[in-house]
Amino acid sequence: MARAKPELTPLSGAGGAEIRGVDLSQEMDNETAEFVHKAYLDHVALFFQDQHLTPQAQERFVLRFGDPLVHPYLKPIEGSPYVHELRKTPEQTVNFGNGWHADFTFLEKPSAANALYARTIPDFGGDTVFINTAMAYDYLSEGMKRMLGGMNAVHRVHPRYVTDVDVMSNQKGKVREEQTIHPVIRTHPETGRKVLYINPSFVPQFEDMTEAESRPILDYLTNYMAQPEFQIRYRWKPDVLGIWDNRCSLHSALNDYQGKLRVMHRMVVMEPTRPVQ
Ligand code: SIN
Repeated sequence: MARAKPELTPLSGAGGAEIRGVDLSQEMDNETAEFVHKAYLDHVALFFQDQHLTPQAQERFVLRFGDPLVHPYLKPIEGSPYVHELRKTPEQTVNFGNGWHADFTFLEKPSAANALYARTIPDFGGDTVFINTAMAYDYLSEGMKRMLGGMNAVHRVHPRYVTDVDVMSNQKGKVREEQTIHPVIRTHPETGRKVLYINPSFVPQFEDMTEAESRPILDYLTNYMAQPEFQIRYRWKPDVLGIWDNRCSLHSALNDYQGKLRVMHRMVVMEPTRPVQ
């Protein structure tokens, strides 16, 4: 019997889509895998409803999108080297991942995608908000595109990330100082679209410029990218597996659920050194 076709519901003009009718606990056939991969490239962030996943099933699916990362600072959950838990308890006031960022852009080979499997979600609050940075590039003026096209940005570990890791790992002083340079305008390796590749949490300055000279341009670009038209906001439910493309987006985990529990099983995958499937 032929499998039912997956059902895709777009979420906003900037992207995001909910997908029903795909069981990620099973190996996908080629047709479904192609559908999912195209949806990922077209919509930036996908949210698969009603999933019941072992850590191995989560790994098997997410590793289709990039190279595995054993998180250098966060402890994996039992049963997987790659899945780690983001848990904010009712007593904690700080959450992990608050503020616009994409993961690990301070490495030469940055992250390709993040995936969150929603385990416990507050009755409201704890949404994740995304910015479509390919769309942000498209709407820049021609003059700005020309200027930024000749610039590189310094990506460096930020004190906020160190605090986040301290909170999550309960072990201070783990994070290494790392930095690298990326072009401000990058070409997405799969779609060929140009992307505004500024990471507000990890970019303190442009190459060959001081921090003071860079700050006004960085502030302008951060405010510009954060306009609501470029945003996707997702309200989680338990058993949703979300995956988003870090090569053309930023995200921020909202911290608006004090006194409540939120638990996510997260994976980060890195830009693949092999062709994507
Ligand atoms: C992250 O990957 O930065 C965390 C996002 C979230 O918990 O919503």
